[in-house]
Amino acid sequence: MKQDLIVILDLGSTENTVLARQIRDLGVYSEIHPHDITAEELDAFKNVKGIILNGGENRVVDGQSVEVRPELYSLGLPIISVDYPQSKCMTKLDCLPDEETLKQFVFGECKAEANWNMKNFIEDQVELIRKQVGDKKVLLALSGGVDSSVVAAMLIKAIGQQLVCVHVNHGLMRKNESESVVKVFRDELHANLVYVDASDRFLGKLENVADPEQKRKIIGGEFIRVFEEEARKLKGIDFLGQGTIYPDIIESGTKTAKMVKSHHNVGGLPEDLKFELVEPLKQLFKDEVRACGVELGLPHDMVYRQPFPGPGLGVRCLGAITRDRLEAVRESDAILREEFAKAGLDKKVWQYFTVVPDFKSVGMKHNARVFEYMVIIRAINTIDAMTASIEKVDWDVLERITNRILAEVENVNRVCYDMSPKPPATIEFE
Ligand code: XMP
Repeated sequence: MKQDLIVILDLGSTENTVLARQIRDLGVYSEIHPHDITAEELDAFKNVKGIILNGGENRVVDGQSVEVRPELYSLGLPIISVDYPQSKCMTKLDCLPDEETLKQFVFGECKAEANWNMKNFIEDQVELIRKQVGDKKVLLALSGGVDSSVVAAMLIKAIGQQLVCVHVNHGLMRKNESESVVKVFRDELHANLVYVDASDRFLGKLENVADPEQKRKIIGGEFIRVFEEEARKLKGIDFLGQGTIYPDIIESGTKTAKMVKSHHNVGGLPEDLKFELVEPLKQLFKDEVRACGVELGLPHDMVYRQPFPGPGLGVRCLGAITRDRLEAVRESDAILREEFAKAGLDKKVWQYFTVVPDFKSVGMKHNARVFEYMVIIRAINTIDAMTASIEKVDWDVLERITNRILAEVENVNRVCYDMSPKPPATIEFE
């Protein structure tokens, strides 16, 4: 192993991630694990230099205090306990060791080296993946999103042709998105990639479905069915790669933290399709995942792309999806992205996209009355997607985008700008 490791055991603290990042800021890799980890599991890491028992406000569960396995104390590793649950005057800062104590523990007692960087992280993960997978095969649903792309690149580096990527084009992708996945992964990284064009199938299922929740359910459910069908065709696969990252684990709830929301990447596969999971990014934060992708040689656009919902353009083609409106969303979105990039706004604005409602308005084209769709532009900034404010886009830029949309996108005669913050509006419309 290239990197030393400080293990944080979660004994009910809400500050595990803050502590992990504090240690990583010192240049030492740290991972967060459940309190009931066994000595054997810890030993398997080979590079543990010390353990931090991180207690806190959730330490007492059902009247019982959460404890680690006593065997951990006889491993001969330095252990520090960070726990102030009894302290009445507890403040947030008290929960964490101050930087000097932390440095003394990490470098003084544990004698850890500051050797955490993406190159070493990747080398360690490659070693771990090879050890886990052996000569078996791994299946991966490659959406083209940041997390699945980075996992794919990591697995290709580790096991090459033993990885089978399946890219399902649900027909709700942005312009050229599926093509770019095929170009990068099949042509450039020589991945074993199965490309499934399921556009007609998805659009067929979505016909006349106007309810947003129903649309989302159909898209999610159909995705699992298509993926399952492909998985059944491929024989002899034992592992499933997943782009789980640390925030996903927090959102799904740790053993002591309350569940925020259930999270599934490719959840919902039937019982008889049992895979062991390979999740090499599950200890990384989003910015670290991007850095990892850059180190693995993925294109900048793929690694730094803005968030894109799983149901894709399906939730931006409002109401019952029709092909003409879907095309209007896709083309207007491509124009918006192109013009934002030209104006340098792609690096400044958190998320920007277009939406096409399911009603028409009156207009004039070539001296004749037309009855056509409208495009709504939305551009927002946020830190955590829980609240958002609109980007005050320069009037000239907006006018240029409007003119291009009106000239180049069929069936559109009107462009509007959404001025609503979140709350009360959400970022997406559906
Ligand atoms: P809302 O509309 O809830 O969106 O304000 C917050 C953020 O989440 C994204 N979003 C999704 N992301 N799957 C995803 O992976 C989804 O189903 C989904 N729906 C919304 C949205 O684009 C915004 O960034």
